Order: sequence, then structure tokens, then C-alpha cells
Amino acid sequence: MDPIPITRLPVSRLSTVDFEDLPFGKVFADHMFVAEFEGGRWQNARIVPYGEIPTNPAISALHYGQSIFEGLKAYRNQKGEVQVFRPYDNMSRMIRSAGRLCMPAVTEDIFIGGLKALLELDQEWVPRQPGYSLYIRPFMYAIDEYVGIRPSDSYRFIIFNCPVGNYYTAPLHVKVSDRYVRAFPMGTGFAKVAGNYAAGMLPLKHAREAGYDQLVWLDGKEMKYIEESGTMNLFFQIGNTLVTPLADGTILEGITRDSILGLAVEAGLPVEVRKVSLDEVVAAYDRGDLKDAFGTGTAATVAPISSITVHDRRLVLPAMEDRTYSTLLGRMLDDIKTGKTQDTRGWIMKI
Ligand SMILES: Cc1ncc(COP(=O)(O)O)c(C=O)c1O
Repeated sequence: MDPIPITRLPVSRLSTVDFEDLPFGKVFADHMFVAEFEGGRWQNARIVPYGEIPTNPAISALHYGQSIFEGLKAYRNQKGEVQVFRPYDNMSRMIRSAGRLCMPAVTEDIFIGGLKALLELDQEWVPRQPGYSLYIRPFMYAIDEYVGIRPSDSYRFIIFNCPVGNYYTAPLHVKVSDRYVRAFPMGTGFAKVAGNYAAGMLPLKHAREAGYDQLVWLDGKEMKYIEESGTMNLFFQIGNTLVTPLADGTILEGITRDSILGLAVEAGLPVEVRKVSLDEVVAAYDRGDLKDAFGTGTAATVAPISSITVHDRRLVLPAMEDRTYSTLLGRMLDDIKTGKTQDTRGWIMKI
């Protein structure tokens, strides 16, 4: 790919940011990468100062939701170098999401090339404090100026970055959603499409008002099987076995989920990927066999769950000091992301 033209921000905003106090997703690095898909190919790749972009009111992204996104992170390793965790997997998932919404595939030049160039320029925005990272948000939306329901011919792809701290600071209280579902068979659950999140906002608002951190979604057909929670995949330790719901079209297949599964197998833990019914989890709890439960996601990392409310019943999980799986697996993952453990799987892309 030709070198990406860069328009620099005349004076970096770095010195205006308090890196000790980083609210999630509200602080933006100096620059962003932008490219357009027009005439059947990606073009006009450029890096410009982070900021507003002109938006025609007729674009289909605004009316019909032809819009997809990704989320990944860059960390500092032990030597202070910047490394990105599994960016090629995010690119592949974005291509799958694009396919579902009739959008063009991003190319490696655009996704990985754009990301590398942007991070080279904004390296100093990757926090140095333990537990902090740079959250990377690639997204794509339809930009045809046409009020009619058909796939757009033109799209814009953007990457911007936010230095962030922890998404959740304490173990989570979650509630099983019994009035709404997130996804249903043959829908868009597996894809990271904007509309999935819009549809979850009202149920989440109700849950937050009732004092819960997140909702656990059940399957959309029978409301019997556990799917995922917020922007996290779910894991349960039942007896000695680590169990996670099968991702068969209605669950977003998390890259953290895949990483945790790999690490669990490597650590010699018994692992099962299969349908997990709510009844099974409640029965395990009643037998005293529900030892651990946690969510996994790029933003949330490994987030322990302290209680699960099922209708009016609250299942209280063991105290954190009695949990072994979430602690072990969370640490193994962090050590790879931050370079304490050598990456033997090709998960790390150094900048
Ligand atoms: C609905 C949903 N499930 C699960 C995840 C976890 O995916 P990942 O581990 O790739 O961040 C996310 C976040 O991207 C999500 O939005």
C-alpha cells in the first residue's frame, strides 16, 4: 500500500489528559484513520486529526442501521513497546459482520495497515499504568445519499482510539432477562452490528434502574439457554468443569472467549463448549457446584460475576478469594497481553 497521507494535529492534546483518571470511552487520541469504499474499492485512505466528519442526513447508516464496528486493545509490554492483541481476528470478525449487512469486506491494507500507521503516530496515547490500555474502535457505515432500502454502494471506514482504564471495577451483579431477548436464530446475533446494541438499551436501562450491572440474555426461541451478557461472553465453573455456551449464530463469538478457551485447555482444565440451560446453572447452584462465573470481553477483560438474579431469586457466587478459574485465566491472559509471558500463538502484533 502507498504511504498513508497524514494531516497532523498542530499541537498534541496529550498534555491535557489526566492518565490517572480515564473514564471509559470519553477521551480520544489525537488522530483517526479514515478511508472510503467507492466505485467498488477502498480509497482515499488518510490519517487526520480526531474530530467531526460531515454527515449527509440521507445516509442509510442513520436510517436503516447499515453500520458495524469492532473493539480491540493495544497494551504496553514489559519493555514499554506497544503491542496489539489479536487484530487479525477482529478484522476477520468485521468481514463476517460486513457480509451479514451486505457491506464490503475491509482489506488487510485498510484494517491492519490503517491501524499500524495510526498507532505509530499516536503511540504516546497508549497508557503506561498497569491495568490500562488503548481501546481501538474500527467501524464502517453506509454513506450513500439515498432514502431507500437497499445496500449502499459507498461506505466509510474509520479507526479512532481511546486510552482507558478498567471497564468494571467490581464483580458484577447480573440479572437474567425474562422480558427481552438480544438475538434469535438466523438473525444478526453473531455479527457486531450497531442495531444489536440499540435494541439492548431499553432492557439494560430497566436492569440498571433495578440495581444490576448487566443483563444475561437467554436464547430467543425458548428463553431456556444462556447466551451472553452485555458485551461479554459467559463462562461458568460447574464442579471442576469450565462451561461456556456454544456460539451457533446468536452469540457474538468473542476473541477473549476464544483466548480463554485456549488457555483453559492449556492449563489442563476440563472445558465444555455446549448449550447451557438456565435450569442447569440453577441446579448446579442448588447442589453447591456453581463455583465461579465470569464474563469475558475486550473492554471487560475477565469480569467475575458476584450474583445472578433469576426471576426473583438471587444466586450468590462464592467470594473472590475462593475462585480459582477466573483468577488463573485472567492472569494468564493479562500476562500475554502485557508481554510478561511470551506469545507463542501469534496473538500479538507489535507496533
Ligand atoms: C455482544 C458481545 N458479546 C461478546 C463480546 C466479547 O467479544 P470480544 O472478546 O471479542 O471483545 C462483545 C464485545 O465485543 C460483544 O459486544
